[in-house]
Amino acid sequence: MVSAKKKLRVHFGPDNVDIIVPQGENLLKAALAAGVHINAACGGNGVCGTCKVLIKKGEVVGPRSAKISPQEYEQGYRLCCQSRIESDLSVEVPPESRLEVAVLSRETGAVQAGAAEAIATGWSFIPPLNKCCVELSPPTLKDNVSDLSRLLRSLKRRCNLRNVSVDLDIVKDLPRIQRRKGGKVTVTTLVKAVKTKADRRKPTIIKVEPGDTSRKHYSLAFDIGTTTVCGQLLDLNRGRVLAESMAYNGQIKYGADVITRIAYSQRPGGLKNLQRAVVATINQIIDELTSRSRVKGEHIGHIIMAGNTTMTHILLGFDPKYIRLAPYTPVANFIPPARARALGIEVGRYVYLFAFPCVASYIGGDIVSGVVGIGLHQSQKLTMYLDIGTNGEIVIGNSDWMVTAACSAGPAFEGGGIKHGMIAAAGAIEDVDIDPESLEPKLSTIGGEKPKGICGSGLINIIAGLLAAGVIGQNGKFNADLKSDRIRRGSDGYEYLLSAAGETQTGKDIVITEVDIDNLIRAKAAVYAGCQTLLRSVGVSPSALERVIIAGAFGSHIDIERSITIGLLPDMPRDRFIFVGNGSLTGTRLTSFSTDLLDDARKVATMMTNLELSERADFMNSYVAALFLPHTNASEFPTVMGRLERLGKASRLGGRLAR
Ligand code: FES
Repeated sequence: MVSAKKKLRVHFGPDNVDIIVPQGENLLKAALAAGVHINAACGGNGVCGTCKVLIKKGEVVGPRSAKISPQEYEQGYRLCCQSRIESDLSVEVPPESRLEVAVLSRETGAVQAGAAEAIATGWSFIPPLNKCCVELSPPTLKDNVSDLSRLLRSLKRRCNLRNVSVDLDIVKDLPRIQRRKGGKVTVTTLVKAVKTKADRRKPTIIKVEPGDTSRKHYSLAFDIGTTTVCGQLLDLNRGRVLAESMAYNGQIKYGADVITRIAYSQRPGGLKNLQRAVVATINQIIDELTSRSRVKGEHIGHIIMAGNTTMTHILLGFDPKYIRLAPYTPVANFIPPARARALGIEVGRYVYLFAFPCVASYIGGDIVSGVVGIGLHQSQKLTMYLDIGTNGEIVIGNSDWMVTAACSAGPAFEGGGIKHGMIAAAGAIEDVDIDPESLEPKLSTIGGEKPKGICGSGLINIIAGLLAAGVIGQNGKFNADLKSDRIRRGSDGYEYLLSAAGETQTGKDIVITEVDIDNLIRAKAAVYAGCQTLLRSVGVSPSALERVIIAGAFGSHIDIERSITIGLLPDMPRDRFIFVGNGSLTGTRLTSFSTDLLDDARKVATMMTNLELSERADFMNSYVAALFLPHTNASEFPTVMGRLERLGKASRLGGRLAR
């Protein structure tokens, strides 16, 4: 006899949400089903420790994890993903385990003066989506051509549109629409994809509306990131951004990085869950954009998106399995436009979604979009384009040639794998000044709130500050001889106390440990070695670079001087560095405004030569050489070494090198 499983009630605080689940259900699954957003960076594999929750009442069972200290275990903390529910529960999700899913309000970083010159130029404002209002003469016995022929004839005469094709759905509605407003109709056409110049003259009619709606002419541009999704609502008549919005990618609850998401996609129903999660985020952003700008969703005619190869695959429902398996093959790099509604995106049924072409498994449409957006392909200036996140993506080239490579930096730049790391949200420590005498820190947090954790850009600033103050040596180890209560031994070895329990949101000390520093050193070494290897492969020295363009949400917030201090960026004249913020979003926006640039997207993706760094022995040598602050080869960082010496710390640091 099969006995039915007991039904149990789980209460989640502070959200104050209840859910009924069968006995034995996984607690993370129950939280997901209840709509409680828990940080599950490793996708529920029990290795990251970000999903810690406090069991206030009731019983769960599961393996004991090293991520829970004995004191925490005593207090009732457990890993949500490793816990099975055995009785009614009351669960508290602490601040550090909570995912903030609200639309983000943090502005992207200040765009520096040079950024204006790093935007594509030389394109005409001819959006691929076009609206044209025509008045059709009424049919007579003398002129009784079909409704479709009448429409095409008028488009040719009034709008100079020739060789137009028609979506079949349009044709069946023509008789009704054409007769509703005395023959006046607005026709929306789309250049779906440009393969050759001749294609530009072959737009497709995707919508016919009664009356004149040509003033209501909008489209959407999206950057689909692994961590965040950013969208803009565009006015295609005036070439303006009406509203911009950003939210965490709803897939975060299934894992923080692309590898974890690909692994999750292989579980039963996994790909569908991931696809639904990102579509829900897109719909949330569309809702926000339309209500803020008072534009009706029905007047949105087109969507252009760019994302890394995995994000693009998942959104389109492609199996990403082979992206992470050698020889790393995507399902497709050039993807035909898809009906947005078929993907679950809540827009008119006639709206197409154009996904930027990808180049390889780890060089996606977001990089192609960024390169198009900054006009790298239009300039003779030798340029390095750098997008830093869990992966560092690098492009070097100009209008004649481009090479590209991706290196795995790990999650440190996004706060992952760091004891008190968090994504860049309110309460994250983003800057610190360390007094060289007292070794006391002065912290700034995002939003000026009490500290909750450390974000990636904060981590760079903290480590650069600790190095400059001589608290750590060039090998990233603490100078334990220094007299300061801030430097102490913790569960992960030496650590520096940034903020004491009484001053933090979490009620716990926030520290930076030697393990954290080591993680960041490995991340920055991967990016620096990637740049070096790519430069070497084309025989270009760093000094030959005329511009270094830094893109991406993380890149927007980093401090150039401190990034050079730790050896993440090359030591070169500071005025060659340009921040462009979200380059991928810039590319999708400009492409929405210009068929020329849509054409360029395909050309750029085709001209990029991808280098697999894992195939190059010299990458590993460069990586090992870069596992130092700033680098084992001091001559590569002359200004940093000069400054450290001037600060009088060289002797103190020197003593640490042998540790
Ligand atoms: S340890 Fe639970 S999600 Fe990573």
